[in-house]
Amino acid sequence: STVVRTTVPQLMACKGQRKIASLTSYSAPFARILDEVLDMILIGDSTAMVGYAMPDTLSFTIEQVAAHTAAVVRSTQRACIVADMPFGSYQESPRQAFANAARLLASGAAAVKMEGGIALADTTRFLVERGVPVLAHVGLMPQYVNTMGGFKAQGMSEESAERILQDALAHEKAGAFAVVLEGVAESLGRRITESLAIPVIGIGASPACDGQILVTEDILGLSGGRIPKFARQFADVGAVIREAVTQYAEGVREGTFPTLDNCFGVKKS
Ligand code: KIV
Ligand code: NA
Repeated sequence: STVVRTTVPQLMACKGQRKIASLTSYSAPFARILDEVLDMILIGDSTAMVGYAMPDTLSFTIEQVAAHTAAVVRSTQRACIVADMPFGSYQESPRQAFANAARLLASGAAAVKMEGGIALADTTRFLVERGVPVLAHVGLMPQYVNTMGGFKAQGMSEESAERILQDALAHEKAGAFAVVLEGVAESLGRRITESLAIPVIGIGASPACDGQILVTEDILGLSGGRIPKFARQFADVGAVIREAVTQYAEGVREGTFPTLDNCFGVKKS
């Protein structure tokens, strides 16, 4: 039977019915496996940090997101693929945002994600009205690290919580199909999830959210030791890789790999 890819409307229909399970991926080998299980895969600009060892996400480019998006799309067939709009690719104007979003849809993404509050809602509307589904990202927005003065949980005061709720409502009104809510007080995560008719996908938000997204490396023991409070290490894939590489290196150094079985033109006796 033909496999049909999860659509944006199908993700929206999950609200109140079942939780949306999603993770990030930027490479074919991971995407191939994630695709068997998840509803949605995000090509996050966190790739700048986990894949390129950059200190933050700010220097990641639309070309890089497009290239990784194409790799993930080619290696998947079931999950809905969403691509992050990197810093500087959408903040200038709705027109700039549309031109860059179009590049990500041309690379095979079904939707784009943008970080921003009420001020960005017009951009969300501009894109949605022109055929680009938008996943809005509010709360802790890593691309705003310099205005925030670091990566810290948001919405801890009543005033700040109210502002983030208004950010989420503005994007819903502008036509966003869902909201990623990152790094906020748990009570606010619950409140926003109850206040919106579209799915709220949490990361460091609340168990009450309509779904969850995390950076894949963080749950697999591949992010260099430190596991964020909002994540959980579900496996130590790093240990599996280390063991395999160690055995390979021993084989090479001791002469047990390769054998003649691994060679060409060897007559079988
Ligand atoms: O870039 C990213 O990985 C993200 C999520 C984890 C939401 O934006
Ligand atoms: Na991101």
